[in-house]
Amino acid sequence: MFISNLKIDGFKNLSSINIDADKRINVICGDNAQGKTNLIEAIWLCSGLRSFRNSKDKDLINLDKQSFKIEVSFKNNFRNQKIEYRLAKPNIKDKHIKLNGVSLKNSSDLFGKLCCVVFTPEDLFISKGFPENRRKFIDVCASQIKNSYRKVLFQYDEILNQRNVLLKNIGIGKSSADELDVWDEQMSRLGSYISVIRYAYTKKLNIFAKKLYNEISHGKENLDVFYKSTVFEDLENRSDYKGEMADEYLLKLRNSRHEDIKAGFTTIGVQRDDLISFINGLNCREFGSQGQCRSVALVFKIAHAYILFEETKEAPIILLDDVLSELDAKRQDFVLSRISDMQVFITCCEDIKLQENMGKTFYIKSGKIINNKQ
Ligand SMILES: Nc1ncnc2c1ncn2[C@@H]1O[C@H](COP(=O)(O)OP(=O)(O)OP(=O)(O)O)[C@@H](O)[C@H]1O
Ligand SMILES: [Mg+2]
Repeated sequence: MFISNLKIDGFKNLSSINIDADKRINVICGDNAQGKTNLIEAIWLCSGLRSFRNSKDKDLINLDKQSFKIEVSFKNNFRNQKIEYRLAKPNIKDKHIKLNGVSLKNSSDLFGKLCCVVFTPEDLFISKGFPENRRKFIDVCASQIKNSYRKVLFQYDEILNQRNVLLKNIGIGKSSADELDVWDEQMSRLGSYISVIRYAYTKKLNIFAKKLYNEISHGKENLDVFYKSTVFEDLENRSDYKGEMADEYLLKLRNSRHEDIKAGFTTIGVQRDDLISFINGLNCREFGSQGQCRSVALVFKIAHAYILFEETKEAPIILLDDVLSELDAKRQDFVLSRISDMQVFITCCEDIKLQENMGKTFYIKSGKIINNKQ
């Protein structure tokens, strides 16, 4: 799919944006703090996911304005479509979202309509950083493929929070340990389901990422990606998340109860799992060089775009925020050549020389598109 026209007004510092996007590459070029990332964020918002910057809804509206409006016209395999997204003060919770002129109840109803993959400089540290970031990566990716997965994640989080509060109360004698039973049972079923989905996603990721990593390292290095569960020894061929998997999860929770009460939080479960990458057999988190870790991050994102393409039969739109400038020329070429059949939005401070007919460059200054770099 590709965006044909993008209008943004009142979103953060952006005003009167109206661009006819190129089907291939769109470079958004400007100095620091001019609104490049804001533009990427506005597109991402229309994909139905939460802001990748964790911005709060109220902070999305320009400080001096009462509302913002984003209009994305795009085309998928079948038809031209249009998303209108409007938020107005003071009822921030009241989102006015339309798809092809029809009002939607929630931003999550936009899910799967405008499919994007966003890549920011923070993503480059995914294999070195905290496990939380890697879990978030799989969760966002997997939920782009399976919308219902998001609800399960949300429910699990709620239960985890409740259970952790209870653990603290048990610790100070305000509650009794058997009150945990009801949470543990729900947690076991949801946690088993999350494990199945994450494992399945990791398997797909491994296939694509392995091939891409082989290419980026010119056949010199081998990448293997594994899902490391804190509950299950082996997740291969396991799918009975309501039955025997949930029983096993429950047993593990029961066995760690004593430790959990002592710690005041839940010490095992999907909230402690990790995605582990090995390069030539060595754990990338511990032994990977900076260059290797960057390459892993790149191939993860490209692999995810391929998975989305395969699953949805639609080419996702790639949003590269300030990433190319962080890469050497060889890696830049690698990224662009691997996504050559997808529409790309690239932000950067320095002009990128595009080959003829490869795309357009838009210059941005103080939240507005200007004709030339001034
Ligand atoms: N609600 C808001 N109202 C007005 N301005 C805002 C709002 N939120 C953020 N901004 C401003 O938007 C400006 C541009 O931010 P943005 O992150 O898009 O810059 P950028 O062009 O990506 O810069 P960099 O090259 O440093 O990444 C910032 O100066 C910020 O203060
Ligand atoms: Mg930026």
